[in-house]
Amino acid sequence: MRVQEQQRILQTLKQGFETQTTADAGEMLQVPMDGYTDPAQLALEQTVFFKKTPLMLGLSSDLPGINTYVATNETGVPILMTRDATGSFRAFLNVCRHRGMQVVATGRGEGRQFSCPFHAWTYQNTGDLIAVTHKDKFGCLAQRDFGLTALPSAEVAGTLWVQPTVGKPLDATGLLGPLADEFRHWGLTQHPFRETQVIEADINWKLAIDTFGENYHFNVLHRTSLATDIIGNLQTHDIFDRHYRMVFASKAGFDQALAAGAPIEKWPYRQLTLNVYFLFPNVIFLVDPAGIDVLRMYPADNAPGRSRTHHSYYPHPDLADAITESRFPGFNKIIVDEDFWAATSIQRNVDAGVQPRGLFGRNEPALHHYHRVHRDALGLPPLSVLPAD
Ligand code: FES
Ligand SMILES: [Fe+2]
Repeated sequence: MRVQEQQRILQTLKQGFETQTTADAGEMLQVPMDGYTDPAQLALEQTVFFKKTPLMLGLSSDLPGINTYVATNETGVPILMTRDATGSFRAFLNVCRHRGMQVVATGRGEGRQFSCPFHAWTYQNTGDLIAVTHKDKFGCLAQRDFGLTALPSAEVAGTLWVQPTVGKPLDATGLLGPLADEFRHWGLTQHPFRETQVIEADINWKLAIDTFGENYHFNVLHRTSLATDIIGNLQTHDIFDRHYRMVFASKAGFDQALAAGAPIEKWPYRQLTLNVYFLFPNVIFLVDPAGIDVLRMYPADNAPGRSRTHHSYYPHPDLADAITESRFPGFNKIIVDEDFWAATSIQRNVDAGVQPRGLFGRNEPALHHYHRVHRDALGLPPLSVLPAD
């Protein structure tokens, strides 16, 4: 993020802190809760969001060198992402063109070529089919026509994007849109990949995203955990086309900066903030002093009330060597034990039909945005405004 923008945000947070105000969406919205339970809506979401939309599947540092790969089935189809010998990022259906077996086992590592476990057809990390076992007996096929099926993909400002279905090349500049410059300034490629986990939950995938959609709940649900670090009821609010950013303030950091009386230009932005991005359609991207967390939410098991969150952590480059313990136990104490615990209660009640409508308040502008862009993309009518008293 550019320095000028950092200072604008710090100024907004300082003012909000001093006046006890926060970002204001200007209206309250009514939310039909069947969006979390309706199998027909889930089927539409699967097609629109998880087949026809470019998805951010990781950071450049997931493929840290030439001839590295990541194989993932998280979108519902097997995808192989590679960085070839020239350093180019590529993505393929991880499906053998012979009889359709998954070629590379799910995971990550190094590899210039990959052999299918069934009959050992072998593919280069450029997708080319380079060996057909006993070709003299199998038949003289034109190998150049049977490489791995390429998927539209692009690497932008340290992020990796793949569309899970075959189609036209991606418009790379449109992927991050107006956020690309800001992401370049975060220096994502300097943050090494550290670890990854999958969180399974009995909640709709959008409910998993919603838990990252406001800090109105910090002083209640997280009063003994996150709220000791981050100031509740205080956030900025910025829309970047379909993406979104809100910034929260560090309690200790703000106390120190205000006590020191230094001008905002001298405040260490990264130490003082938790930056929460929503990247359309399914990513929560967090930047804080400890590094970067990428959370990718997906529907699971074809059930509206089930989701899987794929979470990867990339430590701050200055801390990467010093941090030896997993980030996940502490992270999960908040996200799983508190946020997803609350969301599971909501899902149960929505499933039971006892909460047909919910509300998004004026102080929950991120939730207005997430649901507006999702509904727009699905062709659903906008949420209705709740009349004020
Ligand atoms: S299915 Fe892959 S080599 Fe036969
Ligand atoms: Fe929370």
